Formats: sequence, structure tokens, C-alpha cells
Amino acid sequence: MIGVQLKTFPFVLCLAAAMAIPVLAQDAKPTFRLDGGNTTYAFGVNERGELQQVYWGGRIAPTDPIPAAAGKMEWASFDGSYNNTPQEYAGWGQGLYMEPALKVSFADGNRDLVLHYLSSTKPDAQSLDIVLKDISRAVTVTLHYKMDAESGILARSATVENGEKQPITIEQEAAAAYSLPPAHYTLSYLSGRWAGEWTLNQETIHQGQRVLESRRGSTGHQLNPWFAIARGDADEDHGEVWFGELAWSGNWRITVEQDTLDAVRVTGGFNPFDFGYSLKTGEKLESPVFYAGYSAHGIGGASRQLNKFTVEHVLPTAPKPKPRPVIYNSWEATEMNVSEAGQIAMAEKAATLGIDRFVMDDGWFGKRKTDHAGLGDWYVDPDKFPHGLKPLIDRVHALGMDFGLWVEPEMVNPDSDLYRAHPDWAINFPGRPRMEQRTQLVLNLARPDVRAYVFGFLDKLLTENQIAFLKWDYNRNWSEPGWDQQQGADQKKIYVDFVRNVYSILAELRAKHPGIEIESCSGGGGRVDLGILHYTDEVWPSDNTDPFDRLTQQWGFTHAYPNQVMLAWVTDSPHWMNNRATTLTYRLLSSMEGSLGIGANLNKWNDADFATAKRLIAAYHEVQLTVTQGDLYRLIAPTNNVTGPSQFAATEMVAPDKHQAVLFAYANGTNEGRNFPLLQWKGLDPAATYKLTTIEGTTLPGTPASASGAWWMNHGLDILLHGDFVAAAFRLDRQ
Ligand code: GLA
Repeated sequence: MIGVQLKTFPFVLCLAAAMAIPVLAQDAKPTFRLDGGNTTYAFGVNERGELQQVYWGGRIAPTDPIPAAAGKMEWASFDGSYNNTPQEYAGWGQGLYMEPALKVSFADGNRDLVLHYLSSTKPDAQSLDIVLKDISRAVTVTLHYKMDAESGILARSATVENGEKQPITIEQEAAAAYSLPPAHYTLSYLSGRWAGEWTLNQETIHQGQRVLESRRGSTGHQLNPWFAIARGDADEDHGEVWFGELAWSGNWRITVEQDTLDAVRVTGGFNPFDFGYSLKTGEKLESPVFYAGYSAHGIGGASRQLNKFTVEHVLPTAPKPKPRPVIYNSWEATEMNVSEAGQIAMAEKAATLGIDRFVMDDGWFGKRKTDHAGLGDWYVDPDKFPHGLKPLIDRVHALGMDFGLWVEPEMVNPDSDLYRAHPDWAINFPGRPRMEQRTQLVLNLARPDVRAYVFGFLDKLLTENQIAFLKWDYNRNWSEPGWDQQQGADQKKIYVDFVRNVYSILAELRAKHPGIEIESCSGGGGRVDLGILHYTDEVWPSDNTDPFDRLTQQWGFTHAYPNQVMLAWVTDSPHWMNNRATTLTYRLLSSMEGSLGIGANLNKWNDADFATAKRLIAAYHEVQLTVTQGDLYRLIAPTNNVTGPSQFAATEMVAPDKHQAVLFAYANGTNEGRNFPLLQWKGLDPAATYKLTTIEGTTLPGTPASASGAWWMNHGLDILLHGDFVAAAFRLDRQ
């Protein structure tokens, strides 16, 4: 058929014969190879000088040949070789219709950019730096590669430098492009909304683009910068999966694109929408990091690999973060009606449960009676705390807990002393209306004076008070993204400079106040990504704390982020958001899958509630490291949008050395007389003997007190669990 076409249409060419580009000699066409874990990634310089991916998948032998890079056959005069060649970092020029990695405007109006290989260096055994340069202009790109030896996860980023005599404007800059050969693929990604984050979506990849992005100024609730691509019939446990995640908390874009010849390319970096970053002679722009990896063990294997990598390489206290303290948070109990006496009374109740950290949420500062005022005025409200925070903090310490405080540093209410003094500090286009959301505006943190103010008040707060933890909130998206101190198009630098200053403030605070811990919250899960997680210890996945909704969210969340960072509070029943009534054990076990917190109004609890919570918090401490830093196996999905009905749910976590495993099981309302499905454990050492402990629940008669890993994995555990929103939990310990 192709042959027929070739003969029939005179404008169809077979090879890049019409190209006027010189063909490189063999010794100018190096090949590069990075190995890590079970993965090999290889790329090389093709005959035209472009850098081209040649292999990404399961690890191959060191002696195996790496195919030389060769530009793809030109399919037709409509699809040149430049377009279909899986370039590592394609400039927009020379007939590129695929998503470019880099698009630049020169001062003379030229916008053609063709990047060819220039040189390479090897900073260390697992890293490579490759320099590309335009075929005639002095624009260079340094591609940074770092392959993690254990996980095979590759960290890629790019630094663009202007060596021209005139400024250039970068209109689009990706961190990296990753390519996959033609096949049938399923894309997984996470989407949602406020209070409904972390829905796992799965769809077949077809020709054209599937764009995952944020144009909101920050990461966003709607889409998260994570993807996984499964080949053929790969599922939770089996098959090939390629995955990746962008480490950026501003406007981002990941474009998954199938080309005309059915190959797939994933390009990720700064969102090119409304982007423009001018570089003077000698200036550089560094992209965020785009991590990517490969698993031969299904999507479950992919998430275990990624989450272990995040714990050991991304988090600020990596490689060995401590288990998170069990916290109490005041928000759902008292909202902004905080006071010295009220918070002390709550702290006294919390301490009896075995809580490690007491966190006072919104309402303690400025004239913050409602969300209409106070943001920006970070002094303690003298009406609510006449003696400052010290009496509360001292009492919390005396009760054996440390103290945490809520802040929302990047925001300002128009009704605040800060806004009255500095109305120009809010992001705005002068002379245009400023849209308020939650009656607040976003401070322009890209400005050096605003950055100094924000760092200054946070530093003072931490210096003057014994604060162990900040819950750092961020409760709206951007609008009218102007930066009036900058000339014309340079205002667009706000998209990059704002985020860099958020990161630099977090880094400086951590350096100046060693031991301080920080949570990233944005009205729930609006700012969760591997960029912010390099500076923060945990995240608030959602303002929706209903335990069943949380199970479905946790199912999605854990595809991209580890349980270690997944804060989960136990709150009141029926739930304020959906009026669903659940048992306290169900709420506790749902939250015990992550970093446990209590956010209920303890003034409403009875003695039995306190006893249940105290018992399960103590049980949690015994398994916490396994639960939050171990390998997660998702056994039964809580929702019916992925794997089946939602009557049941179950997850299991296994310690890295397999000495312990923990299993959570939930009945969310059973029907048709169904019993709880047999629970076949996963990931155990088959030859070891494991002793069973019931944390909560009932096993069926005949369940052994101990058995081999093989028995638990093959025969499985039979439990009795029926009813609405009831839960059970079990652990196995190697003997
Ligand atoms: C956001 C957070 C909540 C709470 C409120 C306080 O919505 O997600 O947990 O801190 O702000 O205003």
C-alpha cells in the first residue's frame, strides 16, 4: 500500500533526500546510555546532528548494542523527517508540527530554531549534560540528565542561554520530551476540583494532543502534573508502564501526543500559554525538572517506584524522613472562632489521645473574624490572644505536644493594613478591575519588596515563637496576572519569578530555622507537585474529609504521591459536606492509611470515642513506618470508575525489608448478601513465617495465628465485615 502511494504521488519521498542539511560523519554521531534500576534510556546524534531517543524500557545487558540514531523516514511531503523523528529536545523550526520543546523569537523577527548536538560532559557516573546549539544563531540549550541508580527514574531539565547580541524571547520551554514507539497505549492522569481532587482517569491514546495543564498561576485542583502510559493490556499488577511527573508549582503543561505515524511523545515544562521570558545577552532560563520512569510491573509497580523515589530523593528530609507526627488541627472544630481558653481546652483533650502536635488553624491574626479581612496582617489578634501566643504554646508543650500554626503568606484581603499601605503589591493590571476570590487578592511575590516582606514576617514569627510546623495555605487562583513594575512583555516573567521566590522563601526559612516542618495546602490539594514537595514535608490532599470520599481520593493520590505526605484527618460524623454518617473506626482507619490527624470537635466526643481513638492511634504508631513509607498494593478499588463496584475497598502496605505488612479493609455498604472478598496479601517473603495481629475487626474461624508468606499470599485472609461504612485492619509480622 505504501509502495503504491509512493508511486502514485509525486510529492511523496522515501528518505530525507531533499534536505539541504549536511550529513554527519560516523564519529560525530555519539550515542549515550543511562542505566538505573530495571531501566535503560539511550539516545544519540543522528545523521543531521539532532539528538534523538533510541531506547527507553527494560534494562538491557551492558554488552547489548544500542541502535545508532537515524532520522525517521519521511512519510510524505506533508510529514517531514524532522517532525516524526523522536527528538530529545526539538526547536520550533524546519517544519515541526509536533509540540516543540523550545520556541524562541529573535530580535530581527526570525523564529526558526533548529537545535543540533554540540558537546557533552559527564558530571558524575549517573549524570550527563548535553549541549545543543541552533544551526546558525548563538542560542544554546544544556540538557541535564540524572538517572537514579536504584529506581531507574530519570530527572531531566534544560537550561537555555542567549549568546546573541540582541535579546531573545522564549515563548515555550519544556524540561524534556520523552518518546514511545507506535503501540496501543492507555493514558492515566489525575483530575478534580475543590473538595473533589484525585480522580484517576484512564483513556486510550489517539492521534493528536491530550493536554494536561494549569493556567491558574499554581499547580491547580483540576489537573495534576503526573501521567502514566500503559502499553497494551497492562494493569495494576502486570505489564509495561511509563510514567512521569513535573516538579513545578506554577503554570505547567504536559502534552501527550500521538504523531501521524502512531508514535507517542510526552513533552512537559512551563505552560506556553501567555508565556514570554526575555533573555538579554548571556542570560539563562532554567526549566523545572521533568521526572520519568519505567515499570514492568503494572501501574502498581510504577507508583511504588515513584513514591519510594519521592521519599528517598525529593522530600526536604530525604533520604530518611521521620514518620510524621500525629496532629490535631482546630479548623473543622472551631473555624475562625479561636481563643486562648478555647484552644487550650481543646489541646488538653487532644493530649489524652496521644497526639504529637497541636495545630491552630486560621483566625489567630489581624482582624480575622471572617474570611473578609486580615490576610496580610500577621500580628497576633490581641482580642483573641491578649497575652500573645506564648500561653497557648507553653500549655501545648507542657502537655507533651509541639505546636503548629496556619499561615497564608502569599495572599492579602483588601480589608487589611497591608493592602491599605501597599495596594500595588497585589497582582494586577493597572486601571483594570481586580477580581477577588474568597475576598482576597494574590500578592506579587515576584517583586523583591514583597518577597522581603513575606520572608520577614515568617522569619519573625518563627524567631519569636516556638513553632515547630507551618500549615502554608494558598486559597485562590490567579487573575489579571500583571506585574506593573516591569516593562511591557516582561510582565510575563511573573509566571516564573513568583514560583522561584516561593521556593526560595521556603528554602531560606528551612535553612534559618532548622527542624521547621511545613505543609503545602491550597484549599486542599491545589498545590501538590514534586516542586513544592522538595521544600515541604506533607500536603493537605483535600478539604473534603469525608472518609469514604477520602478513600477514593487516596486511591488516585497514591498513584503519584507517597502516603508519607498524605495528611488525613478524622473529622465529625455526619460529615458537613455530604451528610454521610460513618463509624469512628471507619474514619480512623481511612485516615490511618496516610499521615494521621484528628480534626474533629473533641468537645462532642464521649468516653468511648476517646478510648477508640486512643487505642487506634497507639496501634498506628506501631505500623506507621510501614504504612507511610512501605510499598503500597492497591487491592480493591473503592470506586466503580476503574475496577469494579464500590461495596468494598482494600489496600495493603509492606515494609521495604518485608518484616511487616498492614492491610486495611472497608465495607462501604454491601448488598445482595455478598461476603467480603478473600484478601490475598501481596509482596510478602513467601518463605518467611508471619504472625497475624488484628488491629480492628474479625477473622473467620480457622484463620491461623501464623503461617508462611506463601500461605497468606495464596490462601489469603477471610474476614467478617458487613454493614455500612465499617472497616477492619490487620498486620503481619515476620517471626
Ligand atoms: C483552606 C484549608 C483549610 C483551612 C481553611 C482556613 O480551605 O484547606 O484546611 O485551613 O483554608 O481558612
